[in-house]
Amino acid sequence: MNMPTWLKNAVFYEIYPQSFYDTNGDGIGDLQGIIEKLDYIKSLGCNAIWINPCFESPFMDAGYDVSDYCKIAPRYGTNEDAKKLFDEAHKRGIHILLDLVPGHTSDKHKWFEQSKQPEPNEFSDRYVWTGNAFDYPEGFRMMSGMSDRDGNYIVNFFNSQPALNYGFEQRDYAWQLAPDHPACRATLEAMKQVMRFWMDMGCDGFRVDMASSLIKNDPKKTGIKRLWQEVRSELDRDYPDAAILSEWSCAEDAIDAGFHMDFYIHFGSVGYNVLFQTENYDYVDRGKTVKCFFQENGEGDITVFLDEFLRKYRYINGRGYMCMPTGNHDMIRYSRRRSEEEMKLVASFIMLMPTIPVVYYGDEIGMKYAEGLHSKEGGFFRTGSRTPMQWTDGENKGFSTTKGDLYLPVDGRKDAPNVSEQEKREGSLLQTVRAFAKLRDEEPDLQAGGEFEVVYGEKEKYPFVFRRGKFLVAVNPRGTDAACNVPKRNYRVCKMIGSAELNGSKLNIGKLSLVVFEEEIK
Ligand code: NOJ
Repeated sequence: MNMPTWLKNAVFYEIYPQSFYDTNGDGIGDLQGIIEKLDYIKSLGCNAIWINPCFESPFMDAGYDVSDYCKIAPRYGTNEDAKKLFDEAHKRGIHILLDLVPGHTSDKHKWFEQSKQPEPNEFSDRYVWTGNAFDYPEGFRMMSGMSDRDGNYIVNFFNSQPALNYGFEQRDYAWQLAPDHPACRATLEAMKQVMRFWMDMGCDGFRVDMASSLIKNDPKKTGIKRLWQEVRSELDRDYPDAAILSEWSCAEDAIDAGFHMDFYIHFGSVGYNVLFQTENYDYVDRGKTVKCFFQENGEGDITVFLDEFLRKYRYINGRGYMCMPTGNHDMIRYSRRRSEEEMKLVASFIMLMPTIPVVYYGDEIGMKYAEGLHSKEGGFFRTGSRTPMQWTDGENKGFSTTKGDLYLPVDGRKDAPNVSEQEKREGSLLQTVRAFAKLRDEEPDLQAGGEFEVVYGEKEKYPFVFRRGKFLVAVNPRGTDAACNVPKRNYRVCKMIGSAELNGSKLNIGKLSLVVFEEEIK
């Protein structure tokens, strides 16, 4: 299988387009805004961007309810703007992934408008319908009585998101079609056409929403793997430089399925949470609630993360990558209950792991989670992580020149961080992100895949130390000093946050510190 070479040193930046930068003064971000900030993104050390869905939509789920896959939503601009964005990004060596939502559409999509008609038509089986309006088979979320068609339909997420029909691997009822049924094949072909449409325009691939959800009744995931392998082989043949990144959160399955990358995030397994989520995570390990490792109270347990992560890593290494984000549009921001010093440790750690780093917009300055906001576009608790980017200390924090309403209110707090202040302040979080992204870019040993050896990672102990080629990385996110032994080598400090000292094989590392040693080969 082909592997696009740009992934090895990719550092992604995730953009929630509503809230990034508004250039036409309507209070909502736009594609032109992304174009104008490409140099900024590049300056961070990010060379790839993932943009949340920016297609026409009624926005019942912030655009994850697409009503036209091949049209940019007017509030963000036009398809010409998208083309310009791809071109301008490429001029700067930046790759762009769009967000593909293949599992469901909006109930306002024209396919669905047709599908819900009682008269049989080309789109009758584009979605999953039961045989009659009084069928309520267990195990599915159904909508009933919504149209004159005699049947209920399955929804994938919110009620406004009917599930597209890619078939059922195991079938219990006549209305459950096989994946090779012509109607299911037509759904897949239509989605491939969507992908081709954007790649022909210049996009570099897709983040794929709910990637494992397409084939139903598929306990062994054989059907879904077959489906994505087919897509991958066409990509390899026709778009060898394009990449697909799954929201699956099971790297073993996702890489087997043909994805180049899979997200290592807050669901699917515990590892991400026990590393980073500051809420007391309710994962219970042998009768004990596990708290996160990256927290000042120092009550975490790195082994819970490592047991899981190493298994995944060994299984996929050499065939694909995991992506480890600072956060995303579905999680509470990592700044919650963290100081700037603590955030620096998370952000730099992500840059040093053998996974692909993803910086969620605003996390590079430690934007805060906005508590208690009224839900916007199906955001609910997620709304607080989707507020406008804080560029300056000026009006609307430099996000928009409008005098009217913004998509969401900007963080009006006095101590709300902003880009221009952190640009000027040496050692700021922004500067730290830059420094570590730069180091990663310069050093192949620190990039995705390759060597990752745990040197010190003990149950309920700090620090955590690992080796990546000629580099030794130690991190102590605890509020008190820590120490351990490491193999004796000719190490010199290459980069450091806080303090650390290496005497022979004895490593002492200060509280809230991270150090990268480089082995000097004589
Ligand atoms: C995952 C997306 O990240 C989330 O924002 C969305 O609501 C659901 N999928 C449904 O598409």
